[in-house]
Amino acid sequence: MARGAAFLGTDYAIMAGAMSWVSERHLVAAVSNAGGFGVIACGAMTPALLDAEIAGTRALTDRPFGVNLITMHPDLMELIDICGRHGVGHVVLAGGLPPSGSIDRIKATGARLVCFAPALALARKLVRSGVDALVIEGMEAGGHIGPVSTSVLAQEILPELAQTLPVFVAGGIGRGEAIAAYLEMGAAGVQLGTRFVCATESIAHANFKKAFIRASARDAVASVQIDPRLPVIPVRALKNAGSELFTAKQREVAQALDEGGLAMAEAQLQIEHYWAGALRRAVIDGDVEHGSLMAGQSVGMVTREEPLAEIMATLIAEAAAALAARG
Ligand SMILES: Cc1cc2nc3c(=O)[nH]c(=O)nc-3n(C[C@H](O)[C@H](O)[C@H](O)COP(=O)(O)O)c2cc1C
Repeated sequence: MARGAAFLGTDYAIMAGAMSWVSERHLVAAVSNAGGFGVIACGAMTPALLDAEIAGTRALTDRPFGVNLITMHPDLMELIDICGRHGVGHVVLAGGLPPSGSIDRIKATGARLVCFAPALALARKLVRSGVDALVIEGMEAGGHIGPVSTSVLAQEILPELAQTLPVFVAGGIGRGEAIAAYLEMGAAGVQLGTRFVCATESIAHANFKKAFIRASARDAVASVQIDPRLPVIPVRALKNAGSELFTAKQREVAQALDEGGLAMAEAQLQIEHYWAGALRRAVIDGDVEHGSLMAGQSVGMVTREEPLAEIMATLIAEAAAALAARG
């Protein structure tokens, strides 16, 4: 873990992956204060909001933390400049290949750049373009997911690139034994999201936390696309009425397309926008029926609300015991 911890400037090479609405100042500071690496989820925040969130986080911790920016944000360049002004040490870019100019702009601020690599060829491309570290995230994870499992991505990418730059493994990690296993395979560290949602410090609504505590792995399912004309980026979330309604909405839009009542662009937009705001509705307002309960398969290992420091101590103790048992 030493290499990953040195890269992040932390005690442990455990990142708390950015989670929109959940990863705000309180959770981020709690993770960093517990020796891990908190990451602010910028999501759709305006530049002014991100500015305030970074300042608010700094007021709660003097440890390193990062900022996650989504590549398709219309104000990406301005958001990068705000990170630069605050001297943010690490920027995590999510949501596809970085647009032209963004890598140089981030590096010019002095920050280290971390990107998601969904496949080996793309990982190599990102390394060539100068990223400092990679996160490989499998389909067990909560939120937007790719098609490949964590265990396969780890086998494909770690032997090829783990010597070249720090690689962090994400998706489906709920216990320290799994952290130890990925470290042994060459990972510099790991990234967890789902396991941290029910931390006492997390501002997620009590209903959202209750849904996590009740759920088992099989409840965290990926959304399905029902019509080839209407692309859906899969999202892993707990099943609820909202997921059923999303399927019904796709059917309704597909039918309108068939009947000529809707243009293709408008149809695709309606599908894309369906979930906008749904995560906020669940995390902040507590509407766990119609909001989006994004969660990974590791949700079954979330059994109670507990302080972040205890979650971190448990993960580290499990990892250490697993490594010690191997002699
Ligand atoms: C509720 C929720 C919201 C998320 N939002 C984001 C996000 O805004 N940006 C992002 O890059 N990843 C997001 N993720 C993914 C996490 O950062 C992290 O990579 C993932 O949770 C790791 O897998 P795990 O859930 O199996 O631990 C989200 C995950 C969850 C559970």
